Amino acid sequence: MESILRTSLKYGSISAATFVGIYACLLGLITNHSFFQGHAVYLHAIQTTWFKDLNVPEAFGFLHNQVTPFSIESSDGESLYAWHILPPELYRKHEERLLKEPVGFAQDVTSRLAFKLLREDPDAILVIHMHGATGTVGSGYRVPNYRVLSAGRPDKIHVLAFDYRGFGYSTGSPSERGVLQDGIAAVNWAIKVAGIPHERILIFSHSLGTAVTSAVINHFVLESPSTNFAGVIFVAPFVDVPTLVATYRITGTIPMLGPFSSPFVTSMYEPIPPPRFPTFVRYLSTFIRDKWLTGDRIAEFVRINEAAGRKYRLTFIHAQDDYDVPWTHTLTLFHRVVNATIPGGILFEDLRFEKEVLQKDLGEAGTVVEWKTGNGVIREEILKYGLHDPIMGDSVVTQAVMRILDMK
Ligand SMILES: *[C@@H]1O[C@H](CO)[C@@H](O)[C@H](O)[C@H]1NC(C)=O
Repeated sequence: MESILRTSLKYGSISAATFVGIYACLLGLITNHSFFQGHAVYLHAIQTTWFKDLNVPEAFGFLHNQVTPFSIESSDGESLYAWHILPPELYRKHEERLLKEPVGFAQDVTSRLAFKLLREDPDAILVIHMHGATGTVGSGYRVPNYRVLSAGRPDKIHVLAFDYRGFGYSTGSPSERGVLQDGIAAVNWAIKVAGIPHERILIFSHSLGTAVTSAVINHFVLESPSTNFAGVIFVAPFVDVPTLVATYRITGTIPMLGPFSSPFVTSMYEPIPPPRFPTFVRYLSTFIRDKWLTGDRIAEFVRINEAAGRKYRLTFIHAQDDYDVPWTHTLTLFHRVVNATIPGGILFEDLRFEKEVLQKDLGEAGTVVEWKTGNGVIREEILKYGLHDPIMGDSVVTQAVMRILDMK
């Protein structure tokens, strides 16, 4: 602490030193207590659905018995609260029988008609939804998101949403290790209990959920035999927590690390610049317990698939008006991932020129770049509009699902 103050006094004015003091104390306080740290990263105490019962999905705008609430056990004994959401056309076909089903939380989900409609359809698609920080399966733009996920094939695409440990009605408290176990448990439920082969499973992820997802796909690709999925969608992802902290702007304007933040970048053509005083920021990040190294994990996932000649489909979507996670994270991630497909790698600057050739300009809808190898398709969609959360309910998400299902 003292040495930080001394360094900062050397570098700047008194006010800069005060800044450092405040930030260091704050981060120190947060980071030295896993309790505070857990709450700072996952914000799971912020429920946003306090006044509604998740066991009454009708209160969130669903049809009667369209959603089956149940729970999934993690391998280390946590109980994860989940929703199985039926697509609308399938619901309509079976409406009479669904209306006669028992309501509310299912102790045994396998006894429900909705579950049988998923398990017994050889063409059913299951999207596993990995949500971001705060809230529950019923929060905010997650509900419209479930609708757009199913919209492309409303008789086939089911959604599995669940709350990580410590969120909503799930037991326990979150940590990187624990939440990863939760993501693995959801996939295992889909494969082993619902009997959906991995080629018919898509993963949709948003914000913190993109970090969970990259850890989950890495886990499954490293298993033997290795398990891959039909495709993975990352909406508003971030490179890793230390980089997020260095670029985070409270309400989009006030840099969280004050004068130590990375300078704000608005250009399509630059990676996230290194923070000012990188040594200090690196020092602070040693206190961050859960780093969620998404960039490293997806790059490794791609390297393994390329080496094994296995197909993979990754779609990154980010809006330029996202005030929570700067969209430049997606540029950096796209580079890290494409770099992993090329023996010897490619520099950000060189990829920039390649992208100019490949890029489709969609006017007010933004730009798209698709990078194809013999095995993989990596898509980067930079939208002009969508913010951080509303984007989840936008039509681009329906298209992203359909595009992956169309790619054979
Ligand atoms: C790009 O790939 C090369 C070779 O695999 C690696 O040495 C380098 O660290 C990678 N760069 C980035 C930014 O990931």
